[in-house]
Amino acid sequence: MVVKAKTPDEIAKMRVAGRLAASVLEMIGKHVKPGVTTDELDRICHEFIVDELECIPAPLNYSNGPGQPPFPKSICTSVNHVVCHGIPSEKKALKSGDVVNIDVTVIKDGYFGDTSKMFFAGEPSVLAKRLARVTQECLYRGIQQVRPGATLGDIGHAIQTYAESQRFSVVREFCGHGIGDKFHTDPQILHYGRPGTGSKIVEGMTFTIEPMINAGKRHVKLLPDQWTVVTKDHKLSAQWEHTLLVTSNGVEVLTLREEERSSAVA
Ligand code: MF3
Ligand code: CO
Ligand code: CO
Repeated sequence: MVVKAKTPDEIAKMRVAGRLAASVLEMIGKHVKPGVTTDELDRICHEFIVDELECIPAPLNYSNGPGQPPFPKSICTSVNHVVCHGIPSEKKALKSGDVVNIDVTVIKDGYFGDTSKMFFAGEPSVLAKRLARVTQECLYRGIQQVRPGATLGDIGHAIQTYAESQRFSVVREFCGHGIGDKFHTDPQILHYGRPGTGSKIVEGMTFTIEPMINAGKRHVKLLPDQWTVVTKDHKLSAQWEHTLLVTSNGVEVLTLREEERSSAVA
């Protein structure tokens, strides 16, 4: 696998796309509350992305290949036991206690920024809060491994070790990915693994880390809509995602939000 380092010009564009994607998550938070439908959240994000940011929402009409219908909406909304790729729907009104991952990908000037976080409608259960917090910590521990000379296995190992130490499980079927002027490229960024294994990380790479962590068993199934992924045991799942740039001595989080500036990864 040959992964080309981004040029300074490409890095500048990735920084812009990343910042704009982050701004969508900053904007949508106040709209996540009991009674709102995931379709309304999609519409608000779509209008913000298109009209305010002058970006393209990458999920809209995206398909991974023949056999998969195009994704019909502009964001993914994954509620409770939905692991990822939940389709916004006017039939899905959030109830108090629901947890939802909102996953935003924008295209600006040909470059992609991809990020997601967990939101709560009303008061979440103790378990839901702990799962969301542990999953965010998994993302941060993965990010802390990123520097030239480390390997992709170091990232996966850090995530898996922490998740399993908390008695949660790591979804295997979906992973982070290279990103740039395409949505999904090599390398695959697994959220489990062994230290020192896998490809070496080099300066100028851009990729996502986006762990999906389950409260119960790791197994998932795909719904007949060919997009929505749910836990087999219907227990809760959580996910957080950032787009990253490998720098000369570490990592830059391209999709960092204001609320994270004083935190572990800033
Ligand atoms: N944003 C997702 C990711 O992190 C991909 C969503 S594909 C879609 O890779 F079509 F469902 F939007
Ligand atoms: Co992604
Ligand atoms: Co995403």
